[in-house]
Amino acid sequence: MTERRKNLSIDGDDEQKKRQYNNLDVVVRPLGGAEERFYIGDMAIEAGEDETVVGTEKADNPYIHIPLLAMLALHTPRREKEAHFSVVCGLPIKQFNETARAKMKDRLLSEFDVTFMDAQSQPGRKVRIIIDDVVVVPEGVPVIFNRMLNETADDIARPELRQGSWGVIDIGAFTTDCPVIVNGKPDSMASDGIDEGIATYIDRIASSLSNSTRATITRNQILHKILNNDLELVIRGKIYPLQKEIEDQLFSFARKIIDVIDRMWSKNYEIREFFVVGGGGKMLKPFLARIMADRDIALTFIEMKNSRDDQNDPQLQNAYGYWKMAKQRFGA
Ligand SMILES: Nc1ncnc2c1ncn2[C@@H]1O[C@H](COP(=O)(O)OP(=O)(O)OP(=O)(O)O)[C@@H](O)[C@H]1O
Ligand SMILES: [Mg+2]
Repeated sequence: MTERRKNLSIDGDDEQKKRQYNNLDVVVRPLGGAEERFYIGDMAIEAGEDETVVGTEKADNPYIHIPLLAMLALHTPRREKEAHFSVVCGLPIKQFNETARAKMKDRLLSEFDVTFMDAQSQPGRKVRIIIDDVVVVPEGVPVIFNRMLNETADDIARPELRQGSWGVIDIGAFTTDCPVIVNGKPDSMASDGIDEGIATYIDRIASSLSNSTRATITRNQILHKILNNDLELVIRGKIYPLQKEIEDQLFSFARKIIDVIDRMWSKNYEIREFFVVGGGGKMLKPFLARIMADRDIALTFIEMKNSRDDQNDPQLQNAYGYWKMAKQRFGA
């Protein structure tokens, strides 16, 4: 494992650390503002605090920076009481305008006191996070940047990505963004998207089951089943097979995405390649692959070589791109 990966991401060996990252309870106080307490990770999911109102623009989400602040505080060496940071972050291409960028910068460019709460709800360590510089870029651009540079961001891996027209299909929780990047810059006319993501479809599976069984089945319960490839659910004493409903829903989403790409490629036939990324990209891959073959469309899936190959985790492509942009811009 490289030094950088050790610093950046969860060390697979360290189960305790992983659990810690998944069960954070923090109090955040922005400079001159009021304290607010948040769960992060599994505890937030259990408390139902992870469910954002669908349709909220990223720049309008008042909690968008909370997990970031908690991670920065957690990674501040124990001997330090405060730490300074420069940030590169992103907004979806369709929400990337001056107002949204200013809002995002405003929210982040500040000082925050982050206090970790222990299991007994007692305040523990407090760290002051000071953000001195913020660069906001359109999502998708970092994906191309990530594929262009090597793992350590000091050499070019795919020089051809610097020029010409490239596409990204970012299948998120509630939106699917298909930005087109031309000569390293976003082309908003060529870009497209769908106001639906993988969670939209998992919600449909959950609500259709809830309706037919009169039980309350949540999105996270269904997600858990799919990720564990456990395709039966016991509800009120009866066993319900989930496979058909899951396949129908995910196929229908995959078809919708292929239709959008087909349309984009008809208008902008010079797009060289589409990279499939985002958490939804992982789940939809087999469905997209089957439809692609029938429609004579080829998409590029990013493959993890093994479970530790985070660099090639589709869900982390924008994140690694931000890191490489930050490294070039601010040095690291
Ligand atoms: N290991 C996995 N395999 C398949 N799907 C996953 C996996 N982990 C998460 N997901 C799905 O991916 C979704 C999150 O993906 P992602 O992180 O790309 O979304 P997001 O960027 O938070 O959302 P948006 O782009 O809409 O703001 C979750 O809703 C979940 O359903
Ligand atoms: Mg996303």
